[in-house]
Amino acid sequence: MSEIRRIGIFTSGGDSPGMNAALRAIIRAATNHDLHIYGINRGFEGLIDDDIQLIGDDEVRNIIQRGGTILKTARSERFMSYEGRKIAFENLKARDIDGLIAIGGNGTFTGASIFYKEFGIPMVGLPGTIDNDLYGTDFTIGFDTAINTAVHAVDMIRDTAESHNRLFLIEVMGRHSGYIAVHTAIASGASAIVIPEKKTTIDELVNNLKKSLRRKKLFGLVILAEGNELGETHEIAKEIKQRVPEYDIRVTIIGHLQRGGSPTAFDRILAGRLGYEAVEAIVRGQYNVMAGLINDQITFTNFDDAVLNKKVPGDYYIQLAEILGR
Ligand code: F6P
Repeated sequence: MSEIRRIGIFTSGGDSPGMNAALRAIIRAATNHDLHIYGINRGFEGLIDDDIQLIGDDEVRNIIQRGGTILKTARSERFMSYEGRKIAFENLKARDIDGLIAIGGNGTFTGASIFYKEFGIPMVGLPGTIDNDLYGTDFTIGFDTAINTAVHAVDMIRDTAESHNRLFLIEVMGRHSGYIAVHTAIASGASAIVIPEKKTTIDELVNNLKKSLRRKKLFGLVILAEGNELGETHEIAKEIKQRVPEYDIRVTIIGHLQRGGSPTAFDRILAGRLGYEAVEAIVRGQYNVMAGLINDQITFTNFDDAVLNKKVPGDYYIQLAEILGR
């Protein structure tokens, strides 16, 4: 068992639905071990600015259902420098905070790993990002809610697209990841996907549309991940229009809608399990790891492995989206 008595918790990077449920779980589990808990506002930024306060059961009442994060979040440039991290360490020492739990994505754990190596502050992470692109877990907190939001949006677009016989290019989030696009496409019955993990040329896209045209199909839903390599979605729409003018094309960018809203039951339960396990890990002295879920089993993955290995949507899912969507 470790000697840790005071832990700081923070959320960092892009927010994701279920972060609040995770904070609640961490605080409940830490209270169970009589730990003192400090909430650090705005992620690494708050660590540097000493924006830290005691937090307890009262603060996490009535938040399990809320999107966003009550601790706020930020992407921190300053934490990328040694000077920034040193200030953060001194702030923690001044308050006798001897352990940290971080909820975030790739950037968060990159920073966490460097911080742990430089200053030895025990840290455990929880995967919180809508992108689902973290190695060491089948699901990140927020992904399920994000795809449900995206599917709901595509269902609504389908109504008008079908009524007008239009082709819609629908852009979903995922700067480096096609997870949201692939899973949204499967669940919404979209006709095609364009994702960063699989090269798609404009010729392929146009040829498939020409085939549909020969079958007199003018209605279609194409899901594009924000980070696809084909280009900006409006530009792709222009190019298609030039080459297949028969199509009446519209573009919808779902955007940050996908990051908000009440978390699904799946995300709340995932957040609860991982929050609880993160506290248990820090109490038994298991540090520098991210708690995750693989085949429904709790796993712990080194921060370095979590960030250096790339997790991509499986070929099986990509194929499923393509074959079922034809
Ligand atoms: O949190 C992940 C993510 O939503 C990506 O899918 C997206 O590319 C990015 O964040 C957007 O970041 P920001 O809100 O800082 O523009």
